Amino acid sequence: MKIAVLGYGTVGAGVVDVLTMNKGSITKRIGTEIDVKYVLDLRDFPGTIVENIVTHDIEDILNDPEVEIVVETMGGLKPAYEFTKRALSADKNVCTSNKELVAEHGVELCQIAAEHNVNYMFEASCGGGIPIIRALNTSLRQDEILEISGILNGTTNYIMTSMYDNGETFKEALKEAQEKGYAELHPEADLEGHDAQRKIAILSSLAYGHHLDYKKVPTEGIDQIRIQDIQYAKAMNMKIKLLATSQVAEEGTWAMVSPRLVDDQNILYHVDGVMNAVFVKGNALGDAMFYGSGAGSLPTASAVCADVLDCAQHPHETLKTDITAEPLAQMPTDQVKN
Ligand code: NDP
Ligand code: HSE
Repeated sequence: MKIAVLGYGTVGAGVVDVLTMNKGSITKRIGTEIDVKYVLDLRDFPGTIVENIVTHDIEDILNDPEVEIVVETMGGLKPAYEFTKRALSADKNVCTSNKELVAEHGVELCQIAAEHNVNYMFEASCGGGIPIIRALNTSLRQDEILEISGILNGTTNYIMTSMYDNGETFKEALKEAQEKGYAELHPEADLEGHDAQRKIAILSSLAYGHHLDYKKVPTEGIDQIRIQDIQYAKAMNMKIKLLATSQVAEEGTWAMVSPRLVDDQNILYHVDGVMNAVFVKGNALGDAMFYGSGAGSLPTASAVCADVLDCAQHPHETLKTDITAEPLAQMPTDQVKN
């Protein structure tokens, strides 16, 4: 099974690393060898394991019938949207970590995938390495989901933990998160809450079976949080966490993203650093919690590779990871309690 990786950055390089590191066990488990035939990037990577497979021309990949799976880890909308549409239209499966693209065009891309009897998969788009999308699409399908909430952004959690535990400044902590590869190319997406906004919209759409437009999720980030706020929280035995929440209420479903004070009785108090946690309440299941690395090269690549392996085993069978087009009935924003 030949695959191509679009974007050899933090996540894309992680995908190549995971497939190389675990080649033997993966081949044994799925009965097929997965070979990275192309890496598309703007740069060359001399002296690395991909130096001989780098291309700068998407046509090499789209016109190669041997390539059945395309991994999109470029990020952003341009040219990721166009490349993804063209890959799906050329009957290739696409696996992505690009939540911006999934939140903006996921409905359409899932429809194109279904028309071409291939898969558009995005496990890594929410919660880094946490297998939350697979859980919502498989193990939790029988439940009516009543709530999803949690910490969905690793960068902001890392920043606030570093300020709380080590007294670092916002600037120092952000720099570290960037150096570790957690932050977005434009970190405002993390800091202003838009990344978590996209993720809660994707998860809610899957959980409730109706499309939640991320732009309709009231959102506040941590960009206004200062060291004094962290110190006040500490003095009250509390921490500030950027929480993303959606809940089913009688008046409709509501969702929001905002920094909240949590005390040490709340399990999310103990979710620190780059870790993420997603709480799910089902009408039969009751409460469940998913916890794990919310960002970073190998954890995120692990989630992308889970999709690659599924596509390798079911290349022409649409797996149920689609977001339906029907909009979610939302409670009016002014009724959402903060
Ligand atoms: P990086 O910036 O590290 O990697 C992106 C790569 O794509 C870079 O090598 C970049 O090249 C390349 N690229 C950009 N535009 C093009 C283009 N037009 N043609 C070819 N190559 C291109 O980003 P990440 O790996 O961190 O993130 C990738 C995606 O995964 C994003 O959508 C992000 O939100 C998501 N994600 C990231 C996580 C993380 O922990 N980092 C976790 C979960 C999801 P160059 O550097 O030369 O511009
Ligand atoms: N920038 C994102 C974060 C990457 O920090 O959570 C993972 O989606």
